[in-house]
Amino acid sequence: MEKQLVTCSAIGTAEATGAVNLGPGTPVRPTTILVVGSTGTLGRQIVRRALDEGYDVRCLVRPRPAPADFLRDWGATVVNADLSKPETIPATMVGVHTVIDCATGRPEEPIKTVDWEGKVALIQCAKAMGIQKYVFYSIHNCDKHPEVPLMEIKYCTEKFLQDSGLNHVIIRLCGFMQGLIGQYAVPILEEKSVWGTDAPTRIAYMDTQDIARLTLVALRNEKCNGKLLTFAGPSSLDYSRGHNFVREACGAGCKCYYCPSFCLKIHSPVDSVF
Ligand SMILES: NC(=O)c1ccc[n+]([C@@H]2O[C@H](COP(=O)([O-])OP(=O)(O)OC[C@H]3O[C@@H](n4cnc5c(N)ncnc54)[C@H](OP(=O)(O)O)[C@@H]3O)[C@@H](O)[C@H]2O)c1
Repeated sequence: MEKQLVTCSAIGTAEATGAVNLGPGTPVRPTTILVVGSTGTLGRQIVRRALDEGYDVRCLVRPRPAPADFLRDWGATVVNADLSKPETIPATMVGVHTVIDCATGRPEEPIKTVDWEGKVALIQCAKAMGIQKYVFYSIHNCDKHPEVPLMEIKYCTEKFLQDSGLNHVIIRLCGFMQGLIGQYAVPILEEKSVWGTDAPTRIAYMDTQDIARLTLVALRNEKCNGKLLTFAGPSSLDYSRGHNFVREACGAGCKCYYCPSFCLKIHSPVDSVF
């Protein structure tokens, strides 16, 4: 896979967003939030929790027929936009106090389009529209793995957000418990093979409901403004322990193949884990 180079600046992208600095506008209620990536694994939990806690939740979703119906049913407002089309973003932020950015490119899409170009446009638009707080989810240790394209992009986006002048909270995450379902539980239950690596990488998985709860606590705590936080589960699992953990929970066996880590690097499937 061709390595996508990202530089941590975005010269010319402000023009692309058509962003202008509007200065301080009409006061907005601090409980008004825009969740970007609200149909995703984490995004939907943020929406659910924020609604339960009394926030006025607006969801930015791509214009597609069905996926956002459940968000409306829960009581959120849905607005259509696409991060790869920067001109669609500004209207979604009118009257919004806080943006919670849970978006990431789907595995079948080029990550640079959403996770870098889309995020640069989103941050620049938030700045221009006078958004008062921006929450960005990054990846634990992203600064230590520039060889993994998504890690490099996350680290660059952290720096871009920090330099933007926006009031922000950056939250670095490990893996999601819910991710284990697709990664291990479904293939185990369908009696398919599970692939892993012999790399000593360990992941402190967390339930996305806990991440949502902690995010809203951090949002309300002024001491978290401008901070880089890391959320991690109480214990970490490597591929083998993760697989065994799920296999025991499912009560089923499966074929498990371990691949030397350099093979995985060649094909870069690690990208799709996130
Ligand atoms: N999953 C993990 O284990 C993990 C670990 C560390 C950090 N994180 C970070 O946590 C955050 C949430 O991850 P997740 O696993 O919940 O993501 P996810 O389930 O893959 O959801 C991605 C979300 O982004 C939206 N999206 C993608 N492209 C878009 C575009 N062009 N315009 C607007 N929305 C777009 C998707 O909308 P559609 O439904 O329309 O596709 C979806 O709502 C991300 O920042 C991720 O990098 C995840």
